[in-house]
Amino acid sequence: MIENMSKNTFAKNWDTELADAFHIFNQYTQRLEESYNQLQDRVEDIDREMAHTNARLKDKVLELDNVTKYLNSLLWSIHSGVIAVNLKGEVTTMNKAAEKILKLLAAEVIGKRVEMILKDRDGSTPLLLALESGKNCIDVERKIETNQGTLKWIESSVSLIKDANENTIGAVEVFRDLSEIRELETRLRNADKLAAIGAMAACIAHEIRNPLNGIEGFSALLARDFEDSDPRKKLVKNILQGTKNLNKAVTELLVFARPLRLKLKNSRISEIVDKTLFFVVEDMKLKGVNNIRVHKDCKLDTDVLRCDPEKLQQAFLNLCLNAIQSMMYGGDLTLSTRLQGSGGLGNIQVAIRDTGMGIKKEVIHKIFDPFFTTKQEGSGLGLAIVNKIIEAHNGKIFIESVEGKGTTFYINLPRNSNVDADVFANEWENNIAMIPHYL
Ligand SMILES: Nc1ncnc2c1ncn2[C@@H]1O[C@H](COP(=O)(O)OP(=O)(O)OP(=O)(O)O)[C@@H](O)[C@H]1O
Ligand SMILES: [Mg+2]
Repeated sequence: MIENMSKNTFAKNWDTELADAFHIFNQYTQRLEESYNQLQDRVEDIDREMAHTNARLKDKVLELDNVTKYLNSLLWSIHSGVIAVNLKGEVTTMNKAAEKILKLLAAEVIGKRVEMILKDRDGSTPLLLALESGKNCIDVERKIETNQGTLKWIESSVSLIKDANENTIGAVEVFRDLSEIRELETRLRNADKLAAIGAMAACIAHEIRNPLNGIEGFSALLARDFEDSDPRKKLVKNILQGTKNLNKAVTELLVFARPLRLKLKNSRISEIVDKTLFFVVEDMKLKGVNNIRVHKDCKLDTDVLRCDPEKLQQAFLNLCLNAIQSMMYGGDLTLSTRLQGSGGLGNIQVAIRDTGMGIKKEVIHKIFDPFFTTKQEGSGLGLAIVNKIIEAHNGKIFIESVEGKGTTFYINLPRNSNVDADVFANEWENNIAMIPHYL
């Protein structure tokens, strides 16, 4: 019985404890469930917050992308060149205008040291100077040398780039090309100079010509009076030669001073070259020059140009005569043509190359000046006349010369669209372009 009682008591206790345990377990489960629900709510909140933040971030990235694109297109479309560098002096940005002015591609120069692409003639680099000195500079006119060795006038401003905390993080240079303006100014100055020279020349030439003709006539008469053995005859012949030289100079002066009228017609450049070479060869024969070889390389299919063929022939002839005079010990004279450039219809380029003595660096910038000559009997008007003729055709002349090796004159003549290849060299046309006096 006792055994039965203890059995019952044990069972009852066990039931109670189990019930308590279940109760506690249920409580914990409930709390756990509540915590889980809370956690889930929180996770959902966080998810929502994150989705919201993500959406805002996406908007911001899009906005930033748009701003970057906008700034880039702004940078790309402005006409001034822009180059930015970091603190190490490496190029970080270069816009389209800078590419055009410096004739370089941004992709080629990003990351390179700036002095490799933009430096002054004296070798200094304002962007680096600004980084070193911490100072900006505004609207400074400078002469720079591009990578291809071309000199250009630019006006530039350099400013330091700062971050939000006012720390310098680089520098930017904004510049514009003034070369064309400077070139026009020089041309205008030359035109003024030439106008004055021209007016004076015309006056003097008239005054000189009449007495000169008298001197020439009387000397010729005098020469007839002397026997060939008479030493005075030689003196009179010298006078005659002197008056002839003077007459040539005065005639050239008058040609130079006279306003240039172009008689335009459609003409083949290779034919003008042929006619020029005919005179060149005749002139060489006359002077007994037989150590110069003449070459022609004009194989263009389309070399018709609306131009004044006689004036161009005169220009080519002046250049050929200079070339021959520069080859006193013999050499090669080559006239060639080729198509050049892509602007509009491009140019026909005529090159006149000699293997003569070349032109000294110190005088090369003076050779087109009227009356500049290094020859004892030169008038110094040959190239001034060439320049006038080529300018009248809207052309340009470039020179390449190496002392002791030779010289090449390149003449770029723009091809115009109103050329009819079938109608050329037939007749003089009424279309006469008036060129202003003393260009
Ligand atoms: N092909 C050349 N090679 C070397 N020097 C040249 C050449 N062409 C021109 N020059 C230089 O340029 C100068 C000017 O030439 P330009 O034809 O104007 O005058 P010039 O030949 O001296 O006299 P002229 O009036 O008789 O032509 C020359 O005196 C010469 O020093
Ligand atoms: Mg000459």
